[in-house]
Amino acid sequence: MSKPMRVKISALGTYVPPHLLTNADLEKMVETTDQWIQERTGIRERHIVDKGMATSDLATEAARKALAQRGLVPSDVEAIIVATVTPDMFFPSTACLVQHKLGAKNVWGFDLSAACSAFVYALQTGAQFVATGAHKKVMVIGADVMSSIIDYTDRATCVIFGDGAGAVILEPAEDDSVGMIDYLHEVDGSGGCALYMPGGGSLNPSTHDTVEKKMHYVHQDGQAVFKFAVRKQTDLCEKLLQRNGLKGSDIRAFIPHQANKRIITATADRLGLNRESVIINIDRYGNTTAATIPLAMQTAWEEGKLKKGDLVMLASVGAGFTVAAALLRWAY
Ligand code: UT7
Repeated sequence: MSKPMRVKISALGTYVPPHLLTNADLEKMVETTDQWIQERTGIRERHIVDKGMATSDLATEAARKALAQRGLVPSDVEAIIVATVTPDMFFPSTACLVQHKLGAKNVWGFDLSAACSAFVYALQTGAQFVATGAHKKVMVIGADVMSSIIDYTDRATCVIFGDGAGAVILEPAEDDSVGMIDYLHEVDGSGGCALYMPGGGSLNPSTHDTVEKKMHYVHQDGQAVFKFAVRKQTDLCEKLLQRNGLKGSDIRAFIPHQANKRIITATADRLGLNRESVIINIDRYGNTTAATIPLAMQTAWEEGKLKKGDLVMLASVGAGFTVAAALLRWAY
């Protein structure tokens, strides 16, 4: 078997809907305060869609920006993977809707469900097609319209989430100085009951009763998720660093899932990361589930914290539980 090809991220595009939902807005909707939200989560505002805008719309906008950055047309892409927990519909897949909206020809694709770890899982999945030589250009998109599954009378969840999308293009790397290096992923289904949406699936198909019981909304045991996230994210990142002969201080940009600023800083401290390497933009976007990591990549890029060859570590924990850690060298 020939040696697998090194795979790089060659372009990045992001999109958030223009409508802002601020902490001041939420103070009028539920019993909460700007101070509580900022102290406990680090969030100031989040973007949410207006009625009629769906996940495929955000995903398509992000994809268009990534294509434009690389000077490509949609049909240059051979596969589209959409990481999401809020598809437009159960079926067709959001990848099909994005393909159609982009007008991409001779492309295949599918959706990937792993909640907040879905972007990193999709990144590794897409990378396999490039590494084997099956494809030269794969589009990976993380997109979620969390506002479509949030109960805006539940203060424990409605202050956290936002909507957004980010897309990257994967291509063969010219050499080993850039591109994806290694990853460590794990799922633990025993955590399923800590973060889930019980209604609408094959177990509890939608009825008046399921809607009355609010089963079509996100249900979360925040503290259980918080503790698992800090412990497990740190654990996988440590193992990944160790097996690559690296220390936390070697990381130039730590780009974690943005679920809670306290989870990010606790993980970063335990890993011994340099504070300036830790990318945080949860204040502006909230938790956009599959979109947080590409949105944070964009922030890192805009802040001048991503240069060609820089060592980057991605990390996430999400519903499932799903956990991901990945190492790469930025390619442009
Ligand atoms: O990406 C998916 C993964 N999700 C996560 O990673 C979420 C992880 N969990 C968290 O981020 C945090 O647990 C939350 C932000 C969800 C909650 O923060 P917390 O510090 O764990 O608060 P808590 O649940 O322990 O609640 C403390 C108090 C409670 O009041 P009592 O029982 O002490 O009187 C809550 O009712 O804070 C209350 N509370 C609020 N107060 C004001 C909960 N939500 C709010 C709110 N405003 N929005």
